[in-house]
Amino acid sequence: GETPVKDAVPQAGRPDLVLLRRVGVVDPASLDDYRATGGYTALRRAFELGPAGVIREVLESGLVGRGGAAFPTGRKWEATARQPDHPHYLVCNADESEPGTFKDRVVMEGDPYALVEAMTIAAYATGCAKGYLYIRGEYPRAVARLQHAIATARSRGLLGDDILGKGLSFDIELRRGAGAYICGEETAIFNSIEGRRGEPRSKPPFPVEKGLFGKPTVVNNVETLVNVLPILERGAQAYAAAEPKLFCVSGAVERPGVYELTFGTTLRELLDMTGTTGTTRAVLLGGAAGAFVTDLDIPLTFQGTRDAGATLGSGVVLVIDDTVDMKRMLLRIAEFFRDESCGQCVPCRVGTVRQEEALHRLSRRVDDSDLVLLREVGQTMRDASICGLGQTAWNAVESAIDRLGVFNR
Ligand code: NAI
Ligand code: SF4
Repeated sequence: GETPVKDAVPQAGRPDLVLLRRVGVVDPASLDDYRATGGYTALRRAFELGPAGVIREVLESGLVGRGGAAFPTGRKWEATARQPDHPHYLVCNADESEPGTFKDRVVMEGDPYALVEAMTIAAYATGCAKGYLYIRGEYPRAVARLQHAIATARSRGLLGDDILGKGLSFDIELRRGAGAYICGEETAIFNSIEGRRGEPRSKPPFPVEKGLFGKPTVVNNVETLVNVLPILERGAQAYAAAEPKLFCVSGAVERPGVYELTFGTTLRELLDMTGTTGTTRAVLLGGAAGAFVTDLDIPLTFQGTRDAGATLGSGVVLVIDDTVDMKRMLLRIAEFFRDESCGQCVPCRVGTVRQEEALHRLSRRVDDSDLVLLREVGQTMRDASICGLGQTAWNAVESAIDRLGVFNR
């Protein structure tokens, strides 16, 4: 079975939490609990500010996307809002599939109304009458809780026509994925919703111009959206002064789970909170698409991790101790990418297979020609693949070879 929400949040109940303030504390089924703990004050504030005012606050907050790519959310909203072509669509990307990522699940299970309210605000700001919540099929409890929250909000005038008597029309349709990692790529989501094969489209055009059904579309990750609530409740500047970020901590730690920190906390400080087991050898940041690091003094910011040749990505902190068989782990990562490649473009379809084969040979016998081949294949995938899957499929392997000396003789 799945881990109960409160067990997944070791900090649950702490008064200083922002994004996780209700998780493990309120009854996730109860709209009254949600409202009693500040729910729907952000939407009321949004109505006071007007759509352009909301976008100004989000721009001023500096919020960037939490799915992993860190694109400025306000710029996305602004670009969609000004498109003359209608209708506009909102898509919440809840197809959380990066290995080691489980923050969105915990938010959706523990505080489902927060996502419903945040989607309503995003739709109001960008002029979307319809929102799709695209959620991974392997999250049945989150699906059930969101379906309940959507139906309850609708029955209480918080979705549908004339929301809160302010003339806003907006509704949410929940769509479940069917187990493919690639269907979390934003344009593959469009194809999936439209009933086509879940393959990425080439960008540009970006979704803000031409997205779902060829119309201007805002795509935001779950965590990105729920950040809009404290931005409106506190104001952009107060929010930015202590900006919250969720981290998914797993592996060789004593207290795994989702942690909320303010940006800039170092990896070492986080591991002091979680406790470690064994002797920490490395940390995989950003998941399978990320990189292994050994320097624990890295500040956990998008820029700080980039400077360290890694990525914050979706907030994965997977701790590796000295009992882990790194060759096995690299093979598992390579197998994952080979399996999940959609096969549409050659560099990724062929490259992920060649990478896995070379790693198999290297784990039996280290041969320089295989190391050279790995690098060439990896660089080709990075440079020539259509989407992020192929572009990142070599990152973790490369970092393990270069920083951990996995195939040193
Ligand atoms: P991307 O950099 O192509 O795009 C990021 C976002 O910015 C997209 O919504 C894109 O449409 C938008 N964008 C970029 N340039 C734009 C422009 N000029 N105008 C308007 N919009 C623009 O990255 P992508 O492929 O969307 O995401 C890659 C990231 O996803 C990786 O960092 C990886 O860590 C993460 N990821 C997360 C997963 C998860 O489960 N959370 C799973 C797999 C990958
Ligand atoms: Fe498909 Fe891989 Fe090409 Fe992405 S990079 S479109 S997953 S084959």
